[in-house]
Amino acid sequence: MSFPLHSPPMQRLIITLDGPAGAGKSTVAWRLAKRLGLEFLDTGAMYRGLSAKCVERGIDPVTEDYAVVELARNSDFRFDWAQDPPRLNVGGTDVTDRLRDSDVTGQVSEVAAIPGVRQVMVRDQRRMGQEHPRLVTEGRDQGSVVFPEAEVKFYLDATPSIRAQRRAEQLRAAGKKVDLEQIRDRILDRDHKDSNRKDAPLVCPEDAHRINTSEMTLDEVVELLFGLVHESAGQAL
Ligand code: DC
Repeated sequence: MSFPLHSPPMQRLIITLDGPAGAGKSTVAWRLAKRLGLEFLDTGAMYRGLSAKCVERGIDPVTEDYAVVELARNSDFRFDWAQDPPRLNVGGTDVTDRLRDSDVTGQVSEVAAIPGVRQVMVRDQRRMGQEHPRLVTEGRDQGSVVFPEAEVKFYLDATPSIRAQRRAEQLRAAGKKVDLEQIRDRILDRDHKDSNRKDAPLVCPEDAHRINTSEMTLDEVVELLFGLVHESAGQAL
């Protein structure tokens, strides 16, 4: 019996998940990636990682946007893909444990609204997509800007109250103090900033499956997406 000398190249399969804060994207994307045997990219972590570096250096993203762009250009954003979920290193520092802290979250929308920062991130995310072509990637602009040619696109949404409750549970599970009202206000504020910024605002791509997860459990959302991926890109699995 003879075997081919080279295995055929892996068929590309990019699945994008976009939507507002607290819609459950990160957990859903990570679980979906595991079920499909794909890799997972959390692009919000990159903006959060840069925000953490700004806090560390005392850079104010509102008044010193040029310094934030400079920092983004000079920092290497590296995920450790061997970890599950991948840990993030920015400019030589492992920032993973800082990503959800309130000082980092508090200014991340300002960091993400700076066009020069988005240029760096989009370029880096496309490079990661080339290096990891079988990927579930999650953020605000993955289906609309970064991977407009993605094989399957999703847009997840839920009511602001449900999203606030979910974020509160995440924080409680991480042992953090929780003020539900404050979380809801901050989510609404972030929605407003993410949807109204000039560069790559949060939008639902026309060719995305739009899913309201308010009444669904995490398992149900993952199951639904899993079925839809099989329906629309089963040949690539
Ligand atoms: O999904 P998240 O809460 O971790 O995102 C953090 C911030 O980064 C949020 O304000 C939106 C922004 N973001 C973005 O503008 N584009 C992305 N692709 C991912 C996140």
